[in-house]
Amino acid sequence: MTTPHIPNGYPQAQPFGVAQYPGLAGKVVLNTGAGSGIGRAMAQAFARHGARLMLLDIDAQAMEQTKAELLAAFPDLEVDLVQASIADDVAVERACAQTQQRFGRIDILLNNAGISMNKPSLELKPEEWRRTIDIDLSGVFYCAQSAGRRMAGQGGGVIVSTASMWGLSSSANRLAYCTAKAGVISLTKCLAAEWASKRIRVNALCPGYTHTALMDDLMERNVINGAELCGKTPLNRLGKPEEMAEAALYLASDAASFITGHALVSDGGWLANGY
Ligand SMILES: NC(=O)c1ccc[n+]([C@@H]2O[C@H](COP(=O)([O-])OP(=O)(O)OC[C@H]3O[C@@H](n4cnc5c(N)ncnc54)[C@H](O)[C@@H]3O)[C@@H](O)[C@H]2O)c1
Repeated sequence: MTTPHIPNGYPQAQPFGVAQYPGLAGKVVLNTGAGSGIGRAMAQAFARHGARLMLLDIDAQAMEQTKAELLAAFPDLEVDLVQASIADDVAVERACAQTQQRFGRIDILLNNAGISMNKPSLELKPEEWRRTIDIDLSGVFYCAQSAGRRMAGQGGGVIVSTASMWGLSSSANRLAYCTAKAGVISLTKCLAAEWASKRIRVNALCPGYTHTALMDDLMERNVINGAELCGKTPLNRLGKPEEMAEAALYLASDAASFITGHALVSDGGWLANGY
């Protein structure tokens, strides 16, 4: 991945060895936001573990690209696509039904699709507030409920929702995003408490700044400054989508079988540094 907005010389992540997590082979994974960034890296990580994948995204072309990359690396992979907006509860229900029809079940929901919203609160238009909440919070609920019904019916499952470190902290000019992501963490805990008896584990992943298209867009529009962000991060770099996928693998796997209602932070130390 190119890093045009990050000055040369910033320490990059070292490639890490391929870890293997238990209990993922053959599992049916519904992966939202799989067309790009963290979602695409998650698709690759779960494919590597022999999971069967239903990719969901609003952007059909991006998903096709993810699918092509997956099949190039894993020719035997069982993978299918469904185009939907997670903000549309009817479309989400249809997508879950399609997943069940195609694969017979939904074992793991990677509830990852989301958008960014950076704007001073006095200028935030009601439609911008609604769009952020509709996608980043309500969309996460629709997917969890629709997949959760099927998991309950089949005797269990795992949900990993991508929240953000900004769901645990706060920032000027990010009101709608921080509020939605804090909501995702609350939703995660509520569902974990409610659905443990149905053998459904529910956890949240809280990435720090991670180098994806979403970040490139914000850097290009000078909404954020990559060099400044690296400087504020104790590990002195942005995260990689593969590092977020690794955390999702762990949370979804049997290695995390006693973990539910947890918000796992992967932020290079940003929150620990007090920002
Ligand atoms: N990149 C970061 O620094 C960062 C940090 C913390 C949290 N996150 C969260 O991680 C998740 C993934 O972000 P990313 O950086 O990979 O972004 P990205 O923009 O690279 O990918 C997001 C994907 O979600 C899809 N999407 C957007 N709206 C959708 C909708 N309504 N329905 C279905 N799909 C939709 C997009 O088409 C895209 O493929 C988001 O929830 C984001 O808030 C990202």
